[in-house]
Amino acid sequence: MCDASTKDLGRCLCVITGASKGFGRSLAQQMPCVLQTGSVMLLVARTARLLQELKAELDTHVLLVHCVEADLGTAEGVNKTVEVAKKENVNDFDHVLLINNAGSLGAISQFSSFTDLAEVNAYISFNISSALALTAGLLQAFPQRPGLRRTVVNMSSVLAHQPLPLWVLYSTAKAARDMMFKVLAKEEPNVKVLNYSPGPVDTEMQREIFQQTGVSRELLPCQKPGAKLLKLLLDSDFCSGTHLDFLDL
Ligand SMILES: NC(=O)c1ccc[n+]([C@@H]2O[C@H](COP(=O)([O-])OP(=O)(O)OC[C@H]3O[C@@H](n4cnc5c(N)ncnc54)[C@H](OP(=O)(O)O)[C@@H]3O)[C@@H](O)[C@H]2O)c1
Repeated sequence: MCDASTKDLGRCLCVITGASKGFGRSLAQQMPCVLQTGSVMLLVARTARLLQELKAELDTHVLLVHCVEADLGTAEGVNKTVEVAKKENVNDFDHVLLINNAGSLGAISQFSSFTDLAEVNAYISFNISSALALTAGLLQAFPQRPGLRRTVVNMSSVLAHQPLPLWVLYSTAKAARDMMFKVLAKEEPNVKVLNYSPGPVDTEMQREIFQQTGVSRELLPCQKPGAKLLKLLLDSDFCSGTHLDFLDL
């Protein structure tokens, strides 16, 4: 349900990766409230059925929704996402917004267990490299022009800064992504960049954490950190490249 806020993110091309489940799905449900009529949303994930179900829920009177079935762990998946976005006419938008949300947990295991280079590379490729290549591809496809706002969000985690035993894969990827987007913020002053940590949210990833560790914790519904993220984007008064954690806001 939208509130009566007068602010919006403009006529927006909004790309959300990992939109089929969890936080990305919830964010995609909240997003239309803050987009102007004529906006386009690209929902990206591997599970086409879940994307189509989500699309059917959304109010497509105000915006067009395209489902992009893509495995972002592969070059084909990244390229396909960029190609679908490129079909849009840049002049139709005053804002291009990319939410790099897709991510995976990987094995929670001792450092010394990661002897399989292929396993490590596959994890790094999806969780780090694809976010770089996708962001680069979209920024190239939608270059700076007067009147165009460009925003990139990286879905981060408290573990980007906190070394925790057994979390080497996940923490390494989150730390690398934060740095990657900090560099982008330095390099491109006209791109607004946010590393956003949603806090522990109730998703499949948390169920997977419980399965692997047996440790449960209090979880937030996705809507709260999602609404806070939208408010941050609407106010847009954060310093580009910063890391903000829902639990500190
Ligand atoms: N849950 C938490 O407590 C928490 C806390 C801090 C940060 N985060 C971060 O928030 C983001 C979302 O997490 P979540 O909890 O919502 O995770 P989730 O429930 O596991 O959902 C992950 C999403 O990523 C997509 N995905 C996975 N592998 C993919 C691939 N190879 N190609 C394309 N899409 C892929 C999944 O869709 P398909 O399976 O359909 O591809 C799904 O839509 C992640 O970056 C996570 O690290 C989560």
